[in-house]
Amino acid sequence: MPINDFHQPEVLLSKEMIHDRVLELARQISRAYDGVEPVYLLGVLRGSFIFIADLARELTVPRSVDFIALSSYETGTTSSGAVRLMLDVRTPLRGKHVLIVEDIVDTGYTLDYLLKTLRAREPASIKTCVLLQKPDRLQVPTTIDYLGFTIPDKWVVGYGLDYEDKFRALPYIGTVEP
Ligand code: PRP
Repeated sequence: MPINDFHQPEVLLSKEMIHDRVLELARQISRAYDGVEPVYLLGVLRGSFIFIADLARELTVPRSVDFIALSSYETGTTSSGAVRLMLDVRTPLRGKHVLIVEDIVDTGYTLDYLLKTLRAREPASIKTCVLLQKPDRLQVPTTIDYLGFTIPDKWVVGYGLDYEDKFRALPYIGTVEP
């Protein structure tokens, strides 16, 4: 049966589990950036929009929020590893304390590309905060400084993540089987 908007994905991470983890990540990040402020939160569209909204509101250090959009070329169902910048940040990153906020690291190509591209712009520091990682799918080593959860290799939706642009607004993270 095709997956439609009314399909109810199986719960992998409940709303409460996500909330507790985001709070803990925000505490860790606030401690780390205390005195190093402000943090330049850089969300990767579109999947991170809910995560960054929640994280930004829980931080206790000064922060600003910006977004970047990327597109990855796919061959069939697998990522080819080629990533293209679709929307850039609004201000130069030189001298800023950048924290990349991602919903998920799958193959790692996107985060690897971002780190290489943004490091060249000479920020004061650059770190990564990722809600989900699928270790079984990793193709390139990446540095995740703040990680929410490691998850199995399943298609996950909700809390910003989609399947064919559906389910992004689900309050929990669930799995679907396309
Ligand atoms: C997802 C996710 C990451 C990327 C991770 O974005 O938000 O940016 O894939 O995959 P990788 O580790 O294999 O590179 P997607 O291309 O699905 O776009 P979206 O965020 O707009 O849904």
